[in-house]
Amino acid sequence: MLKRLFSYFKKYRKDLYIGMVCVVFESVFELVIPLIMADIIDVGVVRRDTAYIYRKSLVMGVCALISLGLGACYARFSARAGEGFGTELREAEYRRVQGYSFSNLDHFSTPSLITRLTSDITILQNAICNGLRPIVRGPTMLLMGLAMSILMSPKLAVVFLTAIPILGCSLYLILKKLGPLYASMQKALDHVNAIIQENLIAIRTVKSYVRGDGECRKFGAVNERFRRASERSFHYAVLILPCFQAVMYATIVCILWFGGNMIAVGSLQVGKLTGFLSYVLQILNSLMMIANVFLMLSRSMTSTERIFEVLDEKPAIADGPGRAPVERGSVDFDHVYFKYRPDAREYVLSDICLHIEEGSTVGIIGGTGSAKSSLVQLIPRLYDVSSGTLRVSGRDVREYSLARLRDAVGVVLQKNILFSGTIRENLLWGNEKATREDLDWACRIACADEFLSRFPQGYDTDLGQGGVNVSGGQKQRLCIARALLKRPKILILD
Ligand SMILES: Nc1ncnc2c1ncn2[C@@H]1O[C@H](COP(=O)(O)OP(=O)(O)O)[C@@H](O)[C@H]1O
Ligand SMILES: [Mg+2]
Repeated sequence: MLKRLFSYFKKYRKDLYIGMVCVVFESVFELVIPLIMADIIDVGVVRRDTAYIYRKSLVMGVCALISLGLGACYARFSARAGEGFGTELREAEYRRVQGYSFSNLDHFSTPSLITRLTSDITILQNAICNGLRPIVRGPTMLLMGLAMSILMSPKLAVVFLTAIPILGCSLYLILKKLGPLYASMQKALDHVNAIIQENLIAIRTVKSYVRGDGECRKFGAVNERFRRASERSFHYAVLILPCFQAVMYATIVCILWFGGNMIAVGSLQVGKLTGFLSYVLQILNSLMMIANVFLMLSRSMTSTERIFEVLDEKPAIADGPGRAPVERGSVDFDHVYFKYRPDAREYVLSDICLHIEEGSTVGIIGGTGSAKSSLVQLIPRLYDVSSGTLRVSGRDVREYSLARLRDAVGVVLQKNILFSGTIRENLLWGNEKATREDLDWACRIACADEFLSRFPQGYDTDLGQGGVNVSGGQKQRLCIARALLKRPKILILD
């Protein structure tokens, strides 16, 4: 999974590496500082050599500055890598969703797709921007701190070598509890988002039924569930700090006790003990960092899985191999069976045999739910037949490329959508190269010319989001004009 995630860094891999190198050197410089401090105390202060103290202090200051600069560089490069990564991943997901067929879209709910494209990616992006530093720094500081302090005083090192496993075990226990809690928190957040998105999309319906209060109650319930889930995770997350502090202070007390005794008998210098203490603090700090990384990783894991689910969904309709255009507008249903889900018990359409000649006009009459829409959606391959063959111009629809087939079949769906933008922009969807004459022609046939002539800005009227500025009937007519502009061989009006 990590390897796969890594592939989305592509152009930003360099930033990632540079960022990591910055962190490593930042930690190195920071680790040198306690060494210099020990030197100042043991040599400079003991000998009362002011010049020595000044010289070493200067070196220490330079080290601190370099480390600071490297930290700033890291922030810059990691931000670039993280943001770049998020952009690439979001784009990949979006492209994938564009390739989805209707049946894929039936599989994921719209709110869930939106969450997976936005907040899940943000979680990963943040994990990279904020997590890269501790991932590299934690182990670097741990290893170097361990080596340095053992070198300084092997005897004292025994104290924190016993403290580390204790801290490690307690952190492990807390994290183990926290992982599953976090997953349930994400799911609860999912529900909150789903309710918000569903409500906002249908806000006009909610208002017309005066369902505002009911919707508020519904939202209150999921919001409360989310609060409880976060609270439960938080209960455990807050344990980490006291646990860490208990171990840290116990270690410091022990080291001061043993170290003090060693100084009393003359086997240790004061400066050494000070330096040693800073290393111990660094070691314990790095353990905390590593613990936080695991915390973040377990959070990101849930989001990663959700994103990969979107990327791994196989488009149910594969593009056909043929490059040939559709020549005639005849349609043949040859023993066609169709159902929406492979595991559905009954077919929506069974054993349909139907021949429609080119140039003929056919009306299909039936009660609601009698599968009229299902029937026509098969022709431009919005869904694929379950068995049997559907031929357009004498050839199986699966042999045409999707672009060629859908160019030849104009569909005005039952539920139609216009996009924000001007009327002209919407109509040009049918044919980008359409001239003013073409637009006039299509609008005349669709009976849209009459109301268009009453709009002061004509084709340049802005439709607003989802085409709210025109009436339902006007919208329908514009959709018909849009389909006509394709000059399709087959025109379907559902
Ligand atoms: N996306 C879908 N997923 C599952 N079942 C569907 C879907 N769309 C429609 N159906 C079912 O297929 C049947 C036919 O629907 P449809 O073709 O839309 O009827 P209509 O003749 O009113 O246009 C209905 O029973 C409906 O419940
Ligand atoms: Mg219908």
